[in-house]
Amino acid sequence: MKMTVKEKYAKYATPNFGVRDFEVVGGKGCVLYGADGKKYLDFGAGIAVNSIGHANPRWVKAVAAQASKMAHCSNLYLTSQQADLLEKIVRSVGMGRAFICNSGTEANEALLKVARLHGMRVTGEEGRKYRVLTAVDCFHGRTLGALAATAQHKVQKGFSPLLDGFSYGNFNDLESFEKLMGDDVAAVLVEPVQGESGVTPATPEFLKGLRKLCDKYNALLLFDEVQCGFGRCGAFLASQLYKVKADGVSMAKGLGGGFPIGAVWLSKTCADLLTPGTHGTTFGGNPLACAAALATLDELDRCSLAANAKKLGAYLGKGLDEIAKKYPDKIKLARGLGLMRAVLFKEPLSNAEVCSKLRANGLVLIPAGSNALRFLPPLNIKKSDIDKALKIFDKTMKGL
Ligand SMILES: Cc1ncc(COP(=O)(O)O)c(C=O)c1O
Repeated sequence: MKMTVKEKYAKYATPNFGVRDFEVVGGKGCVLYGADGKKYLDFGAGIAVNSIGHANPRWVKAVAAQASKMAHCSNLYLTSQQADLLEKIVRSVGMGRAFICNSGTEANEALLKVARLHGMRVTGEEGRKYRVLTAVDCFHGRTLGALAATAQHKVQKGFSPLLDGFSYGNFNDLESFEKLMGDDVAAVLVEPVQGESGVTPATPEFLKGLRKLCDKYNALLLFDEVQCGFGRCGAFLASQLYKVKADGVSMAKGLGGGFPIGAVWLSKTCADLLTPGTHGTTFGGNPLACAAALATLDELDRCSLAANAKKLGAYLGKGLDEIAKKYPDKIKLARGLGLMRAVLFKEPLSNAEVCSKLRANGLVLIPAGSNALRFLPPLNIKKSDIDKALKIFDKTMKGL
């Protein structure tokens, strides 16, 4: 007898993602089509990836056109698609250079290697200035370098000994970073808005203070904008809202609008550390991925989606605050920036329970942290769809 999709996963998939039971077959804009024939309002956007919605016609046309010409050719050759994307990233972030890879964790690995090269340039030898400071509850990825940077016990458990040289300060607590800082620190890496742990925006004093601290100790300030970048918080990069300039930025998720791609931007002063042979990738920057990213970034510009995220993000935030006040025994608080928001629940209510009830009522959200749900709709979301989502959320909270 033919196996179902769920049965195939149960039998053939490695079990690291746990058991999943929601099968999807497609999407259009902010609507996700379930295999059950139902339509769902998608306020998860594939964990902040589908920034221009599902099956955006311009994106589909660009990807199909590029696929019919050439998907891949390696980094041994030049392509106009990669050249255009490099230019777009550098023009949007600032004077410097960019490197294209395939994911957020890879982008962070590249930043960590740049940090070590920086330390070697400053001290003249390896192993003297290589420590990297990151923040408790951050998330930087699952590869061994990014994992060592990710100061969360539940993510690191089982993988000791971790890569050496990481120390963890408390997010939004500058003093805790000052205590850890020293001449052996090569870089500080933080998310301007912590995503996975439940959407916590940095305070301006924290990011500005880290900039000063890094300058004082000749360490690089690195921002992980994998989740909060590309218009989601109301500017191309979230850090641009804070007017704090990093030496390096990692990016992924929303950059490709659904196509796997990551990137690193490096300031003029540290881009030259990546001399020939120091880093590389087979797939990174292939013309198909670059065409997808260019189409996504064109759409961000054409429809002013960062401005939309700012305006409608504030609207969504206000709506969530009102609902939080309405159910004080169930909701601790709502917080976020732009269209990157979360609601934190009070026990005994669990985010898993709320998430499945919401889905049954037609709204898809993403769990975060210990007991939160994230609202990460596509950036071209309409006010009427936010109203629908708020209505479903309110109705669901009432019934719990
Ligand atoms: C801030 C941040 N950095 C890095 C990553 C890792 O990205 P990827 O899953 O593409 O490797 C994530 C993924 O959730 C993230 O949110």
